[in-house]
Amino acid sequence: MNILILGSGGREHALAWKISQSDKTDNLFIAPGNAGTREVGTNLPIDINDFVEVKRVVVEKDIDILVVGPEVPLVDGITDKFKNDPALKNISVIGPGKEGAMLEGSKEFAKEFMYRNGIPTAAYKSFNAENIEDGFRFLESLKAPYVLKADGLAAGKGVLILNDLELAKSELKKMIEDSKFGEASAKVVIEEFLDGIELSVFVLTDGKSYVILPEAKDYKRVGEGDTGLNTGGMGSVSPVSFATDDFMKKIEDQIIKPTINGIIKENIDYKGFIFFGLIKVDEEPFVIEYNCRMGDPETESVIPRIKSDLVEAFIAVENQTLEDYKIEFDDRHTAAIMLVSGGYPEAYEKSKVISGIDNLSDCILFHAGTSKDVNTDEVKTSGGRVIAVCSYGDTMQDALLTAYEKAKQIEFEGRYFRTDIGFDL
Ligand code: AMP
Ligand code: GLY
Repeated sequence: MNILILGSGGREHALAWKISQSDKTDNLFIAPGNAGTREVGTNLPIDINDFVEVKRVVVEKDIDILVVGPEVPLVDGITDKFKNDPALKNISVIGPGKEGAMLEGSKEFAKEFMYRNGIPTAAYKSFNAENIEDGFRFLESLKAPYVLKADGLAAGKGVLILNDLELAKSELKKMIEDSKFGEASAKVVIEEFLDGIELSVFVLTDGKSYVILPEAKDYKRVGEGDTGLNTGGMGSVSPVSFATDDFMKKIEDQIIKPTINGIIKENIDYKGFIFFGLIKVDEEPFVIEYNCRMGDPETESVIPRIKSDLVEAFIAVENQTLEDYKIEFDDRHTAAIMLVSGGYPEAYEKSKVISGIDNLSDCILFHAGTSKDVNTDEVKTSGGRVIAVCSYGDTMQDALLTAYEKAKQIEFEGRYFRTDIGFDL
C-alpha cells in the first residue's frame, strides 16, 4: 500500500511512526511533514488545502490510502472531492465527508445532532445578527460562567468562558457584529456551563461499526496548574485514571453508540476518527465537542498504546469490516510532554537549533514544529509546539518520570515545557 498523510504536527508524526511499522506499507508520504516524519517516510512540500495539488501528488505517487490529519481539509470537503472524482474514487480516505466533518465544523450542527440523537450535552441556544437581542436576554436567564462559542472553525480559539454578564454581552456583540472570529462567529452558540473534569475519547469508525481507542487527557493551558493562555496542547497522558470500566461503559452506551447510530440513521458518510471531547460531571459523561480527526497532543500518547497494525484497521474501515476487527492495546501508561518555543502561544522565535535528540533511549520523539536545514543537516524549530517526548511506564507516574528525564536532555534556545502534566489525576 502507498499511503499519504496530510499534516505536519506531532499527531501526523505519531501516525506516520505507526504506519511505517506496518508490513502492509510499501511507501509512506507525509505532506508537508516535518523533520521527524522524514525519518519514517518521504515529505512532500505541498499546500494540503489546495486539493488540486493533493490530487497531483496522489496520482503521481499512486496512493492507495489518504489519511487526513487536521480538520480544515475535511471541513472543506476533501473526502467528497475524492469520491466524486473518477480518477480518485478508488482511493480510501480516512476522514469523513463534508457533512460528517460538520460535527466539528459547526457547533450548532453538532448540538442539533446531539439533541436529535439523545446524546448528553450542555443546554444551548444559537444566535446571529438577526436575533442578537434574544441572545442578550438568554444570557440574562443563565448563571455565570457564560460559555460563548463561535459556530465555525476558529483554530481552537473560538470559545469564551466569562464570569461577568456585561462582559459576556459585549463579547457576544463583538463576535456577531464585529466578526471577532471572522465568519466563524457570525453565529454563536451560548451554552450552559458544565463543571467537571475533561477527557478525550477516540473511535475509529467505518460508518457502521467502531473500535474504541485508548482514552487520553490533554493539558491545554500554557502554565502550571492549568493557568494562563490556551495553547494547542502542552502534553497528554493515557490511560486516564477516572475512566474506569464502569465510566467507559456509560460513555459507550450514552455517547458512542448513539453517535454511530445517528450517523447511520442520518446517512452521514463517515469513515475515520471521531474525537469525543467529554466532561465528567458527578458520575455522568457529557459531550463538550466533537472533532472529526484525532487530537493533538493526545495522538502522541494514544498511538503508542495501540499494538495492532493501524493499516489493517484502515483497510477494515474501507471494507466496512470493522465489526470483525479485534484491536489490541499495550497495557502500559504513556505520557507525552510537549516542548515549546519560548513565548508560545504568543509571539516566539523560530529557527533555533535543537540538540540532544539523537540517541535518546526510553522515549519516542514526535516532532511537531521542526524542520531540517539541508545545508547544515541541523534540526531547527519551526513552530510553537516543537517536539513531544513520549515514554511508557507501568504507572502514569513512571511514564511521566521517564518522559521528563528525557525532555530535559533536549535543548534549544527558549525551550519551555510544563512540569506538572498529570497533576490533576
Ligand atoms: P471546545 O472548543 O468546544 O472544546 O471548548 C474549549 C474548551 O472550553 C473545552 O475544552 C472546555 O474546557 C471549555 N468548555 C467548552 N464548553 C464548555 C461548557 N459547556 N462547560 C464548561 N466548559 C466548557
Ligand atoms: N487536543 C485537542 C485537540 O486536538 O483539539
